[in-house]
Amino acid sequence: MELIKLDKSHLKSLKKLLKFSFPPENEQDEEWGNLIIKNEKILDDAFGWFDGDTLAATYGSYSSQIMLRGEIFDVKNIENVATLPTYRKKGLIRKGLIKELESSCDSKFHFHCLGPFKHQFYRNLGFENALDSKKLDSDFDFLSKKTDASGYKTKMGKVKEDSKLRDDITQVKRWFWEHSRYNPSKVHEVFTETFNQMSKKYIAVTYNENFEPKGYIIYHEKDETLKIEIMQYIDLQAFYALKQFLLSYQDQVKKIIFFSIPLDFPIDLLIDNYWLRGKKFSFQDNPWHMFRIVNLEKVLNKICKEFPDQDIYLKVSDEILNKNNGIFLFSKSKIERVESYSGKIDAKISISDLVPLISGRKSSFELYLNGKLTVPKKNVIYNSKNLVPQVIADFDEIFPKVNTFSFW
Ligand SMILES: CC(C)(COP(=O)(O)OP(=O)(O)OC[C@H]1O[C@@H](n2cnc3c(N)ncnc32)[C@H](O)[C@@H]1OP(=O)(O)O)[C@@H](O)C(=O)NCCC(=O)NCCS
Repeated sequence: MELIKLDKSHLKSLKKLLKFSFPPENEQDEEWGNLIIKNEKILDDAFGWFDGDTLAATYGSYSSQIMLRGEIFDVKNIENVATLPTYRKKGLIRKGLIKELESSCDSKFHFHCLGPFKHQFYRNLGFENALDSKKLDSDFDFLSKKTDASGYKTKMGKVKEDSKLRDDITQVKRWFWEHSRYNPSKVHEVFTETFNQMSKKYIAVTYNENFEPKGYIIYHEKDETLKIEIMQYIDLQAFYALKQFLLSYQDQVKKIIFFSIPLDFPIDLLIDNYWLRGKKFSFQDNPWHMFRIVNLEKVLNKICKEFPDQDIYLKVSDEILNKNNGIFLFSKSKIERVESYSGKIDAKISISDLVPLISGRKSSFELYLNGKLTVPKKNVIYNSKNLVPQVIADFDEIFPKVNTFSFW
C-alpha cells in the first residue's frame, strides 16, 4: 500500500473511517465529528493508505503556530489519526508519522504537535508532554460567593448563532497572542470554522465600562453539570465577572467541570473550602499537548537566549531522525551540532525528554532527578539541589522553568 494525499473523491471513505474509529462519547463529540467532515478544508493536509477501494488508515497534518518562551513557532498539528481494525498493528501510522517528520525536517516547521490517545505510542516516536494542564471537577457548593466585578457586564449566547460574541472572543484572543504569559496558538481554519458552527456550545463574554471585551468562557450544560471548556480573562475584574456569571447557575446545576486550566489558575479565588462533608472536589493533572522536535539545531538557536560561560557538550539520542542524533555544543554565542567529537560529554538526554525542557514545563533539575537528563560518571542521583552537578545548574539558566499552557 502506498501513502497518498487525500482529495475530494476520498471524502466518503474518510468520513466512514473517522466515524468508525472515533465513536462519539457525547453529543458535542458527535456534532464536531459530523461538522468537521463536511468542511472540505479537512482534506488540505489529509493522507491515507488505500487497499483497493478501502481506506485502511489516515492522518492529517495541519499548519498552525504556537508561542513558546515568547517566540512564534510554525508547527504541524497531527489530527484524525485512525486505522481500520483489520489493518492495525502493521506499522502504518508509525510509518506515516515518520515520513511526515522527515518531510518537515528542512521546512519551516519546528514541532509536530498532537493530543495523544496513548502517550507511550507517541513517546516511542519522540513525542513528549510539552504543556501543563489541570482539570477541576467539583460539586457546585465549593464555589465561593466572593466576587469583585466592579462595573463589568457579561453577555451570553450560542456559539453558532451569535457572530458578535464570536468576534469579541477573537479580540480577546488577539490580546492574548501579544500578552499571554502562557502559550497562545493559532490553529488551522478548519478547526475554527467547525467550532463556529457548534449548535450547543455557549459563549459568555464579559465587558468593561467601555464595552471592551475582557474575558470569555466557552461552555455547555449537561446532566446538571456546567462544563467549562475555556476560560480566559485579561484582567482580574474579568475573572470575577465570569465567576459571578458562573454563580448565576447555582440553582440550575449541581457540578462544575473546568476541562483544561493552567497550573497557576487562581483556584483560591474560586473555591473557599477544599472539603465539605459528602461533597466531591478534585484537581488533577491533565496534560494533553505532546510535541515532537523536528529540527533540534534550529529549535535551540531560536529558543535559547542565555549562553553558558563554559562550553557544554550535550549528547542527544534520536532513534528516528539522524539529524538530531548526536552531540550539540552550547558555546558562548551559539548552539551547533558537532560532526566529530571524541572529548568529554557533559550530559545526555533523549529527543523526547528535551521537549519539556525546551517548552519550560520541566526544569533541568527535575529531569536530572528523574534520570532523564543524565551526567556521565555521576551514577548516584541525590535528591537534593545542593548536590546537583554544575551542568544541570547551567541548563537551568539556559532553559528556565516557566508556566506552560495552551487553549487549543
Ligand atoms: C491508534 C491507531 C491509529 C494506531 O494505528 P496503527 O496503524 O495500528 O498503528 P501502528 O501499527 O503504527 O502502531 C500500533 C502498534 O502496533 C505496533 N506495531 C507496529 N508494527 C507492527 C508490526 N509489524 N507487528 C506488530 N505490531 C506492530 C506498534 O509498535 C504499536 O504498538 P503499541 O500500540 O504497543 O505502541 C489505531 O489503533 C486506531 O485507529 N485507533 C482508534 C482511533 C484512535 O484512537 N486514534 C488516535 C487518536 S490520537
